[in-house]
Amino acid sequence: MLKVLKGERIDPVPVWMMRQAGRHLPEYREVRARARDFLDFCYSPSLAAEATLQPVRRYVMDGAILFADILLVLDAMGRNVRFLEGEGPRVDPATRGRDLAGVPIEKVLAKLAPVGETVERVRAGLDPAVTLIGFAGSPWTVGVYAIEGRGGTDKADSRRFGYEHPLELDGMLEQLVEASAHYLKMQADAGADALMLFESWAEGLPEDAFERWVIGPTARLVKRLRALGVTQPILGFPRGAGMLVQDYAERTGVNAVGLDTAIPLKRANAILPRGMPVQGNLDPMRLVAGGPDLEARVKEIVAALKDRPHIFNLGHGVTPETPIAHVERVLHALRSPA
Ligand code: CP3
Repeated sequence: MLKVLKGERIDPVPVWMMRQAGRHLPEYREVRARARDFLDFCYSPSLAAEATLQPVRRYVMDGAILFADILLVLDAMGRNVRFLEGEGPRVDPATRGRDLAGVPIEKVLAKLAPVGETVERVRAGLDPAVTLIGFAGSPWTVGVYAIEGRGGTDKADSRRFGYEHPLELDGMLEQLVEASAHYLKMQADAGADALMLFESWAEGLPEDAFERWVIGPTARLVKRLRALGVTQPILGFPRGAGMLVQDYAERTGVNAVGLDTAIPLKRANAILPRGMPVQGNLDPMRLVAGGPDLEARVKEIVAALKDRPHIFNLGHGVTPETPIAHVERVLHALRSPA
């Protein structure tokens, strides 16, 4: 997988799945029950390392994604993150740029130190051939949580906030660029082979806003990482960017892009930079449904991207109701000869 991220085409294509660690696995639910709550789980290196390794062990994935959450950085920045059972995350809403500047970067990193320890433990327990992916949320996506206090909205409050108080939003995004750069550098130093930026709420932004809130901060984050000496490949996932995925791929400096479920692959393949590795994009609901067409769709995705480095993945995360047998069918289809 690492070779593919560096630009090589390899067949059969390597594979991992976003949210591969999680509630669809009985062994995950067992470990999860040992933690006081979800945050405690993420900050417990032995539990988080175990959750990271579980899907790699069960399925023989080519990539392992660090078990953590994109909201940990906000927690470390003092925004009081809570995960309410059955309701999703909650965060104390921020209204000023300086709301995210209260905690000095050394303290942010000290709070996140257990994540670095998780990376070290995983790397020590992982087959060297498996790529360990560290990650963070992209500034805009984490910013949406910081402003709205929750995710999964249409982001109307965040967009309005950005139009009414552009400098305040710029200030928040810059705080997130800086904290995320140091957080990702910590993961890289601890042994992550690649880094992924989750821009889960890239959807629905007009192009000027996409430029200012997505492309600009992501480009500055990538640049900052390189200035800090991070050499690992960086994979960006601008979920819902639509046609703007091209601008994102060309101008943020990421080395590879994740394609969501809704992106038409042949057209994306035609407009993305030649030779740029892509990851994606099976619909997680097709994986849940299974059905006779699952293998055919897997092969269609591989065929549509046959001219460039490709890492097979979903277009978004594995959901809790996903049958283990369906994941196994996808892996088998990928690894068995045509
Ligand atoms: O396999 C993996 O990918 C594990 C690591 C991981 C988690 N979250 C664990 C998690 C990663 C990479 C994330 C990223 C993340 N977190 C994103 C970006 C990817 C995406 O889905 O778009 C986002 C938006 C979040 C924020 C978040 N965390 C939400 C909205 C929720 C609640 C929704 C849900 O599924 O319950 C979480 C909680 C969360 N993060 C869980 C897991 C396994 C479920 C919590 C539990 O087990 O109780």
